[in-house]
Amino acid sequence: MNRGCFITFEGIDGSGKSTQINLLEKKLRDSGYDVLLSREPGGTDIGEKIRELILDPANDEMDQLTEAYLYASSRAQLVKQVIIPALDDGKVVICDRFVDSSIAYQGYGRQMGEIIEQLNRFAVDGCLPDITFLLRIEPKGTKSRMAGRELDRIELASENFHYRTFKGYDEIATKNPGRITVIDGRNSVDEIHEAIIAKLAEFDIFKGLQV
Ligand code: ADP
Ligand code: TYD
Repeated sequence: MNRGCFITFEGIDGSGKSTQINLLEKKLRDSGYDVLLSREPGGTDIGEKIRELILDPANDEMDQLTEAYLYASSRAQLVKQVIIPALDDGKVVICDRFVDSSIAYQGYGRQMGEIIEQLNRFAVDGCLPDITFLLRIEPKGTKSRMAGRELDRIELASENFHYRTFKGYDEIATKNPGRITVIDGRNSVDEIHEAIIAKLAEFDIFKGLQV
């Protein structure tokens, strides 16, 4: 474990990550924890600029290797500027997406494979999540939830891309059973929140945490 605790949320677009992160942040703060929230791509001034570049639908000529490096660049900055200092301070860091997103979207979705793990190994420099929650729901299950949203460049990618990404997440979870807890994203907001708290309560740092 890191000195603080590094928690990440993963899942396809619309799987409910932001909703659960907000609930968890409130719960932990109310219980006296020092919490730092972040998101990817972004989370730093430089990272937010990179985010604009990556997600802008006007950048439709972007090569997929450029895209992969941009996500990794935003991550490298976030790890060094924000995540490591916060963990060293004993904080609970909650991040909306991290390396697993690159492995799922670029590795599986864009079919770039193992090079994504390699280039991210340099970007994170050994800083990996202690606990990851994967909110599992098929792309077709999020369609109604995404209605009315203005879609970014990644969300505008093909249905096959999103399905490969979804399947990729399953493979990542199978390979990392100790770190990744898979939660059925079709359940209600409250049920998912309860499952997250129950899982966290298994760790010493969150012992006694209750819904
Ligand atoms: P993400 O951050 O993964 O893109 P959000 O938390 O923004 O997902 O949720 C996407 C939409 O789905 C929002 O309108 C949210 O209110 C709704 N939503 C979130 N969780 C659930 C759930 N468990 N059941 C039904 N709708 C949900
Ligand atoms: P985000 O704004 O978190 O999307 P959402 O809230 O809809 O889940 O993420 C932006 C997009 O970037 C999202 O479609 C996933 C994609 N992404 C990657 O393709 N690779 C990555 O490494 C990361 C962090 C995100």
